[in-house]
Amino acid sequence: MRAEFGPVLGIETSCDETGVAIYEARRGLLAHALHSQVNLHARYGGVVPELASRDHVRKLLPLVRGVFETTGLDPAAIGGVAYTAGPGLVGALLVGAATGRSLALAWGVPAIGIHHMEGHLLAPMLEADPPECPFVALLVSGGHTMLVRVEGLGRYQILGESLDDAAGEAFDKTAKLLGLPYPGGPSLARLAGSGRPDRFRFPRPMTDRPGLDFSFSGLKTFALNTWHEAGSDEQTKADIARAFEDAVVDTLAIKCRRALEQTGIGRLVVAGGVGANRALRERLSALASGLGGKVYYPRPEFCTDNGAMIAYAGFLRLASGQEEDLEIRVHPRWSLASRTIAGGSS
Ligand code: KG4
Ligand code: ZN
Repeated sequence: MRAEFGPVLGIETSCDETGVAIYEARRGLLAHALHSQVNLHARYGGVVPELASRDHVRKLLPLVRGVFETTGLDPAAIGGVAYTAGPGLVGALLVGAATGRSLALAWGVPAIGIHHMEGHLLAPMLEADPPECPFVALLVSGGHTMLVRVEGLGRYQILGESLDDAAGEAFDKTAKLLGLPYPGGPSLARLAGSGRPDRFRFPRPMTDRPGLDFSFSGLKTFALNTWHEAGSDEQTKADIARAFEDAVVDTLAIKCRRALEQTGIGRLVVAGGVGANRALRERLSALASGLGGKVYYPRPEFCTDNGAMIAYAGFLRLASGQEEDLEIRVHPRWSLASRTIAGGSS
């Protein structure tokens, strides 16, 4: 790795958050800025892709200007540009990719497309007490649930993943059918706080058989049926939210325990939007310390989508000498396994 590689500008526009950051070798994260589109999409009950793209177009360059103003850095000092190239909404991704590549061309520096989930799994490295490799990463976002064995940059072994709805998607869909406002995950988690733990018991999908894959789509049907059978008062709604959250947290914890036992690794990284869930954090911290290990989280604002994780992943890849041609390419569907670097680096 070339230690002298200059600061990297990171851009995240894969879904409904515009994130920008600058990461540098010596001082780490210099600045980050985020614009959330929550208010834009709230009235539609979910993300409207065309509106997301247009809003990224409006917000991205002002945010880029903002991080340069905050840091006082001259764009001429930038060593490279990283942007999320997938997975995500194609129009939204294209805004970040086209802007990132154009800035890099204008500045005469290399640019690189980053896999969004690689960004998430490296995010805990930005904290004061980063995990050493190897570690097991539980990635729990809106689009993906995955357990990954991480040996180093680009050395990822997928141990298990969701066969249908991701954990965040299950939170969002269940919240929607209970009539809770978008974004569903945090709304449902808040309601679960006033729910009683002993009224309903939801299944723990795929925990009764070996393996590390997940299936959460049945839980929303279970929630809907319970809702129809048990009535629709506010306390029942909270009790259903609690039973749903308990089932997701328990299922994730069972699979994490298996993954740690199977690999013999004690370090567990939890990242992605659902990693902001308090009940999940408490449960996994207790699990890891019970096994003599430790759990590592990004700070809550870096659990959900952000530019800092993209700047950091981009810095690592660019500083290790990776380059791409000028073509603007995005991958709405993109396997993390394809980001494995032959031979890897650690
Ligand atoms: O990683 P992320 O910001 O975006 C994707 O890459 O998908 O994750 C967003 C997901 C959404 O499904 C959202 O409902 C969920 O994370 N989420 C939560 C919480 N905060 C965000 N789910 C449960 N509890 C939370 N506190
Ligand atoms: Zn994400």
